[in-house]
Amino acid sequence: MTTTNDTALEIDRANVRPRALIDPFQRVISYLRVSVTDRCDFRCVYCMAEHMAFLPKADLLTLEELDRLCSVFVAKGVTKLRLTGGEPLVRRGIMTLVSSLSRHLASGALKELTLTTNGSQLTKYASELKDCGVERINVSLDTLDPDKFRAITRWGDLAKVLEGIDAAQAAGLRIKINAVALKGVNEDEIAGLLEWAHGRGMDLTVIEVMPLGDIGKERLAQYMPLSMVRARLSERYTLEGIDYQTGGPARYVRVKETGGRLGFITPMTHNFCESCNRVRLTCTGTLYMCLGQEDAADLRAPLRASEGNELVDAAIDAAITRKPRGHDFIIDRRHRGPALARHMSVTGG
Ligand SMILES: C[S@@+](CC[C@H](N)C(=O)[O-])C[C@H]1O[C@@H](n2cnc3c(N)ncnc32)[C@H](O)[C@@H]1O
Ligand code: SF4
Repeated sequence: MTTTNDTALEIDRANVRPRALIDPFQRVISYLRVSVTDRCDFRCVYCMAEHMAFLPKADLLTLEELDRLCSVFVAKGVTKLRLTGGEPLVRRGIMTLVSSLSRHLASGALKELTLTTNGSQLTKYASELKDCGVERINVSLDTLDPDKFRAITRWGDLAKVLEGIDAAQAAGLRIKINAVALKGVNEDEIAGLLEWAHGRGMDLTVIEVMPLGDIGKERLAQYMPLSMVRARLSERYTLEGIDYQTGGPARYVRVKETGGRLGFITPMTHNFCESCNRVRLTCTGTLYMCLGQEDAADLRAPLRASEGNELVDAAIDAAITRKPRGHDFIIDRRHRGPALARHMSVTGG
């Protein structure tokens, strides 16, 4: 029998239960992307300048602090965590963080723990990632031509990345390949990438280049609208609309001839902000509520100011109330420079 006291207790419990993160546009924030380092073993031409100034190591959150912050977000209803960077697998001790975060998978609070990687370290870490409960990962790969790969990444070795992909598949990780479409560079290779990825049971997502950070080159030269990529693929393949949604910006089709999924991320030609469910944390504890806006909240100070999580909890709530409706990237002849000063490697894409 339920008494009045029991009912009051139920109401109390409901009140103390961590509130879900809901922004001013009624979007539920359930996805946190964490850039665990801004450093990388590649220097992709669309992402970084050749000589990058990286954040001073002293400014970085420790792995323990990153764990604590991620855990606060999980307690506030985040169910999906993606580690990214820079290159997440070059951060020293990264597997300690992955392993420790995996407790939230075990508890059921987290539905997915995943990462986006350039694949260079996967031979070393694939099995360990799988053992920690990581089920699928995104691997960025823009070309299957070794010389072009070297030209795009400046420092990368295609053979090492392909070995990494082999190792990840052998370990049982599912892989989605991300390729940035670059005018005059890999635009003729998208069909080849698609055949290769689908032939190995991997989805492929093509991404439009975004104007983030000074890369020492003009964006307009790199920019390739995906409407053109799609039109060209449509001449060769039957692209069937499907209802597959990941809550992210990609719009998917099924390629009838290969049976595989193909995604398009088109921030420049199609605005995906209305369904945005994510926020981004940098390795210094700065929270960006939108990839395409400057506004940010510092979570490092409240995190360090107290051993308890009340201050950081309140700082997160306040930040979410400032999540903007969307971005306003433009690349055209009048807007040739970066729309934002920070590089993709800081917020992690
Ligand atoms: C910044 S990287 C970080 C993770 C990892 N290093 C990697 O390359 O997968 C994440 C994704 O952002 C993409 N990216 C980087 N700079 C970009 C830009 N300016 N426009 C569009 N995508 C970009 C990369 O191709 C990659 O797929
Ligand atoms: S895209 Fe990824 S791999 Fe390439 S430079 Fe940026 S962070 Fe490094």
